[in-house]
Amino acid sequence: MFLEEKFGLTGKTAIVTGGGSGIGQQAAVDLAKAGAKIAIFSRSGAEETVKMIQDNGGEAVSIIADVREESAVKEAVDQVVQRFGSVDILFNNAGICEHKSALEADAKDFRNIIETNLVGVYIVARTVAAAMIRLGIRGSIINVGSISGKIINIPQEQTSYNASKAAVIHMTKSLAIEWAKYGIRVNSISPGYIKTPMGDVPKEMEEAWMPMIPIHRWGKTEELTGMIIYLAGPSASLTTGQDFVIDGGYTCL
Ligand SMILES: NC(=O)c1ccc[n+]([C@@H]2O[C@H](COP(=O)([O-])OP(=O)(O)OC[C@H]3O[C@@H](n4cnc5c(N)ncnc54)[C@H](O)[C@@H]3O)[C@@H](O)[C@H]2O)c1
Repeated sequence: MFLEEKFGLTGKTAIVTGGGSGIGQQAAVDLAKAGAKIAIFSRSGAEETVKMIQDNGGEAVSIIADVREESAVKEAVDQVVQRFGSVDILFNNAGICEHKSALEADAKDFRNIIETNLVGVYIVARTVAAAMIRLGIRGSIINVGSISGKIINIPQEQTSYNASKAAVIHMTKSLAIEWAKYGIRVNSISPGYIKTPMGDVPKEMEEAWMPMIPIHRWGKTEELTGMIIYLAGPSASLTTGQDFVIDGGYTCL
């Protein structure tokens, strides 16, 4: 009862972008366990995630939408509102990473990362916020930053990715201020190294990282769940414009 009142999401609708794998898949499954109906936006369908949610007794739909395509995102958000009658939570997670130094990555490579990780996050956030405002919903938007938006990772060189994530963290603050007057909260989470398809890196890189992480291990996707559910729900009603680092202490050093 107390936990449901403070953290429950029963009756809410959540959109999760990039929910076919990794952090997005875990967030979709766990937001559903907390009571939310889930719409997953992905480029090629997220049937596996939908099945995982349905197997737990939850409600979910997979919608094809590339976050870089404004019209596809608008159509997808309209579909969610038509189907579920609301949109209360956005887990704005879709992203890509490329380990290329600034001398290797030309402007096309740089734009490619920015287009998904920054422009895509912007497109989905503003489309969902517009729907929330239209429906009078005081919703919660959670963008996915990274420790790479706070510090410079080594040994891999990845200026494009680092710049995109730093921009997501600052954009989060800016959107939080613009939309506070509508009761929409905007926060970000910044995970450290989490074992997902994106975290599937060469052995040498993993061996270089582990001594640098104070807890000396990969993070698990489920170790992000508590923060996501907190930010999505009623307990976070005073929390907006903040970034939450979940990294086993990596950025302390
Ligand atoms: N894994 C980590 O160590 C780590 C650390 C910090 C931040 N992150 C961030 O977490 C988020 C999720 O990454 P992950 O580790 O789960 O990796 P992942 O590759 O499993 O997940 C990324 C998802 O985004 C989807 N996606 C990519 N481009 C898209 C587009 N244009 N439109 C729609 N969907 C698109 C992919 O298909 C994939 O399902 C990313 O934003 C990533 O930058 C990951």
